[in-house]
Amino acid sequence: MNTESDNPQKITERIGQLLKEKNAILLVHNYQLPEIQDIADLCGDSLELSMKASETDADVIVFCGVHFMAETASILSPDKTVLLPVETAGCPMADMITAKGLRDLKQKMGDVEVISYVNTTAEVKAESDICCSSANAVSVANSVDPQKQILMTPDRNLAQYTRKQTGREIQYWDGYCPIHNNLSAQQAEKVKAAHPDALFLAHPECPPEVLDLADVVKSTSGMISYVEESDHRKFIIGTEAGILHPLSQANPEKVFLPADPGMICADMKKTGLRDVLRALEEMTPVVNVPEDIRVPAKRALDRMLAVPRD
Ligand code: 13P
Ligand code: SF4
Repeated sequence: MNTESDNPQKITERIGQLLKEKNAILLVHNYQLPEIQDIADLCGDSLELSMKASETDADVIVFCGVHFMAETASILSPDKTVLLPVETAGCPMADMITAKGLRDLKQKMGDVEVISYVNTTAEVKAESDICCSSANAVSVANSVDPQKQILMTPDRNLAQYTRKQTGREIQYWDGYCPIHNNLSAQQAEKVKAAHPDALFLAHPECPPEVLDLADVVKSTSGMISYVEESDHRKFIIGTEAGILHPLSQANPEKVFLPADPGMICADMKKTGLRDVLRALEEMTPVVNVPEDIRVPAKRALDRMLAVPRD
């Protein structure tokens, strides 16, 4: 096999062979490029992918997403080899908080329950009491002892949304996803006014004033399930553009309009078929987490996995 081949079908076939030979599974986030989503064993949101990573009996997990997702898989399944085909695929929001910064704030705040979004490093998870994803943030906050004050990190938008939904007193870290945070209420209003017959679905990483305009607020897979079950025909989608692929594949008769066509996460678009092939051929780059970080980080993730989806 010539790895330089330009033929996507040949590359895809070779990836399939190597996945079988190595007893590997290909986990793919909903924002990945269509050609990567199309060869996934499971395409999903952060919560579904974490659950699959913790349950699979594969020996190797090839994670097509960003670094914190592969790291989460490695924390949950340390006996497996976790490959992240493009090592530099990161999450700018996860980089907005450090373990030291969180430690310092905890010290200042005193007795506080820390809920960290899965979009964080293993070190930050290790400093947290429980993790959450966009699919279960409300249930996670509701699972916290009502006597305790809550600190949510690092997404201020998800934290404010959770505060509104639960009525809990929630302090938050001032981080955000640059892609979702960039969607303005003015832009959302413009698309809504042009398509008054469409439902507006928004991701909780969007700013509060955008979420106030939304008909439905869901994680990426939450949006996919919602659309499949809805009798509605037209939807405005307030999240990263990658999700338009699974939405249109599963619902060819429905219409999907991006709330803003500029919502593209460059890190989520770094992984191509050739990267996946190279990762499987060379069994690198491997994502590992040292035990002293992994064990407390896993505690926070396990607590999250015991909480149902919202
Ligand atoms: P979900 O797919 O879990 O909703 O996450 C969105 C996201 O931004 C992942 O980076
Ligand atoms: Fe991070 Fe936002 Fe990209 Fe998701 S879409 S990986 S939260 S920067």
